[in-house]
Amino acid sequence: MSNLVVCDHPLIQHKLTFIRDKDTKTKDFRELVDEVATLMAYEITRDMPLDTITVETPVATAQSKVLSGRMLGIVPILRAGLGMVDGILKLIPAAKVGHIGLSRDHETLQPTEYYMNLPTDATERLLIVVDPMLATGGSANAAIGSLKKRGCTQIKLMVLIASPEGVRAVQEAHPDVDIYAAAVDERLNELGYIIPGLGDAGDRMFGTK
Ligand code: PRP
Ligand code: URA
Repeated sequence: MSNLVVCDHPLIQHKLTFIRDKDTKTKDFRELVDEVATLMAYEITRDMPLDTITVETPVATAQSKVLSGRMLGIVPILRAGLGMVDGILKLIPAAKVGHIGLSRDHETLQPTEYYMNLPTDATERLLIVVDPMLATGGSANAAIGSLKKRGCTQIKLMVLIASPEGVRAVQEAHPDVDIYAAAVDERLNELGYIIPGLGDAGDRMFGTK
């Protein structure tokens, strides 16, 4: 069973409150999502391997740590996942970015893939799939399934808000994929929205409603 890591750092929880607030305007919403993505990137990279190197300080020789060069890829699920990319790149500027376009049908709640573009060496990278919302889990599962079909094997999922149903769906379909969430909310409503959630992440990110 994959791990669920709830990133309950006070800074993340504080910012998430204003992301949820319906009166938060598009510009502030975008900035807050960007900031939370940076803070969550700190948590998701916690187990990155390190090498020890020798470095000369002004007064002595030190054995000190550097990242061992594990290659990363960030894969936003379009549209809303795009809003989390820059925040992660601030901490991991060498990461490459792939894109998966998925659209969830408002009635059936089934996702349709309309775009896929990955770095050529994606199969060698640890891929972080990002999307603000994990609702039914259909989109995340389709994205992860699509990556696996293309030979990618090291995958993590980063979301802002998950529903219990979405977490269960990903854990069942992809038990090897660890899930990082800033919050796990109460439930889905009859329209497939996370309650209390934040509404429609894509619309709030891009001001389309
Ligand atoms: C939203 C959200 C997720 C998906 C979550 O995207 O950003 O991708 O729904 O729902 P699920 O877990 O039930 O699949 P949407 O399909 O509305 O597209 P958008 O980002 O273009 O608005
Ligand atoms: N997609 C969203 O953007 N919000 C939800 O609450 C569920 C799916």
